[in-house]
Amino acid sequence: MFDTLSHQIKDSEKIVFVTGAGISKESGIPTFRDKDGLWRKYDPMQLATIDAFYKNPSLVWEWYQERLANVLTAKPNPGHLAIAELERHKEVIVLTQNIDGLHQRAGSKIVLELHGSLVRIKCTVCNFIDQFSIPFEILPPKCRCGNILRPDVVWFGEKLPHLVWGEAMSHAINCDLMIIVGTSLEVSPANTLPLYAKQNGAVLIEINPEKTRMSSSMDLSINETSAKALPRLISLIQK
Ligand code: APR
Repeated sequence: MFDTLSHQIKDSEKIVFVTGAGISKESGIPTFRDKDGLWRKYDPMQLATIDAFYKNPSLVWEWYQERLANVLTAKPNPGHLAIAELERHKEVIVLTQNIDGLHQRAGSKIVLELHGSLVRIKCTVCNFIDQFSIPFEILPPKCRCGNILRPDVVWFGEKLPHLVWGEAMSHAINCDLMIIVGTSLEVSPANTLPLYAKQNGAVLIEINPEKTRMSSSMDLSINETSAKALPRLISLIQK
């Protein structure tokens, strides 16, 4: 199967990666929907919605600060590093659902964070926004305008940042190869990106140890972990 695609893959000019929590699993960051995932332990409706936040901002902040501690000690794994390395040979765009910043720490230059960033905070009212790496003593933290601060992430029921989403769509529509890594493709609108790419003639490759709802639409589905499969796939593309 790979041989039939290898020319298209090697000749591809613009490669778009759509990544999810699975690519960071081998950096020690749990996914959401695996059997040991976060949504097995916590109820997303209690922690990852705007209503949950206003109902109990301290609880939501405690959960995010716990995740922040894990993210700050995590390191990019061979999957993140292989994508960053490919930028030396091809035009590479990373559209990630992850909020852990590991693609940027691996060296990827063009990373669109569709669901925001765990290492950024913003005010719930004024336009204050800042990096965030030292946990707050008092929760919920307050902005200098007096209102509470929140993590700069996209919660269920919230729209994606429209400039980021518009740019992500245009990359998906204009790429000739899309590699979808470590995502269950359960959450929209991120899970529509492969459809846009396919409609415009891109080759779709999926890397995921499990089948997903879109595996049958992929030109190639590699059922392996990304830390193993990505370095191998990318070394073939670079040849
Ligand atoms: N390598 C590659 N893929 C893996 C690995 C691995 N080592 N381990 C697990 N996976 C796959 C799982 O099989 C699963 O399909 O990663 C996927 C993770 O899926 P989810 O946990 O649903 O994570 P994701 O798709 O990123 O979720 C999307 O949902 O909860 C929201 O905002 C959250 O951004 C998140 C969004």
